[in-house]
Order: sequence, then structure tokens, then C-alpha cells
Amino acid sequence: MHKLVRAVRFSVNPFLAVPTTGFNSYASKPCGEGLSFYLNLWVEVIGGLDPDTGFVVNVNRIDRSVRRFVVSIFDERIKKSFDMGEHVSIMEICGILRRVWCVLGDKFGSAKLSRLRLQLNPFRTVAIESEDIEVFYFSEKFEFAAMHTLWNDKFGDQKNFELFGKCANPAGHGHNYVVEVTVQKPEGDEGFRIVDFEKVVDAEFISLVDHKNLNVDVPEFSGKNPTVENVAAFAWHRLAGKFGAGELSSVTVWETDRTYCTYKE
Ligand code: NI
Repeated sequence: MHKLVRAVRFSVNPFLAVPTTGFNSYASKPCGEGLSFYLNLWVEVIGGLDPDTGFVVNVNRIDRSVRRFVVSIFDERIKKSFDMGEHVSIMEICGILRRVWCVLGDKFGSAKLSRLRLQLNPFRTVAIESEDIEVFYFSEKFEFAAMHTLWNDKFGDQKNFELFGKCANPAGHGHNYVVEVTVQKPEGDEGFRIVDFEKVVDAEFISLVDHKNLNVDVPEFSGKNPTVENVAAFAWHRLAGKFGAGELSSVTVWETDRTYCTYKE
């Protein structure tokens, strides 16, 4: 079984009476023209390969289906809400995603739609999955800067430098970390607000580690190496159970662009 993911980028401009189409799907098509809402829909399908083409689904078919049947759903909703001065909540965006799921569900032959993930901006996404499209997943990225040293006192200097290399520098070194926190929320939880979510992550985790020496300033790491694995687990344990009815789904910490770790229980 293969899992194929395709991003379809499009823009909605509620200020224009007639949408402009555009010619560059890499940057977003429709292009939006001027100030507009840029959205990126990740479409994930699973299935076997067509032996003649080697495709699960031709990605052009995914692009065409989204642009033909889905863009108009967002276009109409955004324009209507803009005209009426109505707020569109995260819960309502999830309702739109469920409509999109119903529209796309039969468009890919024997391949099954397994996940839809809408990027509201490069750092914030909402997603639904085939297991239960009534549950939604909200993810947001945060950053923090911190220093650390990787070292174990039970080893001698030589072994520490062998094991941890440059990371064992006793004076420490720094990283600009990125952490993505994902919560899963059941349908009908009307109380979900981004600002509340952010407040919890900031108070319960970011404020403890940002611009800190992890080995010295964070008691969790007084006898434990602040590796990206342990930082991710620490973030999980700080945040689990803090989102009201919502459950923490996963925490991913990037130590660099090339190294990241996801933790969940
Ligand atoms: Ni490091």
C-alpha cells in the first residue's frame, strides 16, 4: 500500500467580484491578485499502484478535483462571511473540511482519501482523518532559543567527547528550536480558540525553555541530557491534560532543519 500526498495551493480574494485564475500553481492558483487569503490543502490518499502508470492517483487529477470542486467551497464561504462581517471559527473551518471530504471522497477511483490537512498559514494547520472525520487535529508551530550541553558525569572526558562530539562542549552551544504542538478535538467542542491554545503552550512550556540554559535553568534536565528526544517528551508532559476537553495528540521538536523528534503517548 502506498500513501501519496499532494499540496494544492490556492488563494481566495473576497475583494474581487470575479476571481482571477492565474498560471502558477506553485505559488497558488487561483492567484488571488493583491491582498487575498492564501490556503494550502494537503490531500493524502492511500491505495495500490496502477500497473500501467505507476500512480496511486495522478496528482493532476487531485489538482483538478480540488480546483474544480473545492476552491469554490472556500471562495463562497469566505466571500459570504466577508460580506456579512461574520467570524469563521476553527470549528467552522473543520465543518468546511468535512464538506470537502464528502466532495473529494469519490474522486480518486480505488484510492482512498486518508487525510485532509489545511494550512491556514505556514505555521498553523487543521486536519481531519479517515479514522473519524468528526475529530479534528489542530497544529501550531512555536519557536524558542536555548543552549545546552550533552554530557554524562558517569563517563570520563574522553568518552563524553566520543559520544557527544561538539555537543559536549562544557560551555554549551545554542539552537533555535521549533516545536509543533498538535491537539485533537472532538466535534461539537465549540470552545476551541487559538488564543487559549497559545496561552497554554506559552505558559506551560515555551516560557520555561526560551532563552534558557536547559541544563541549568530547567530542573527536568539537571540529571538528564536535554537531547531533542528528551525535550520533546518534556514538552509532552508539560502540556498533556492542559487543553480542557481536547487531548494532546503529539509534540514535534526540531533542533535543526535536519533533526527533529516527535513524541506521543
Ligand atoms: Ni545541540
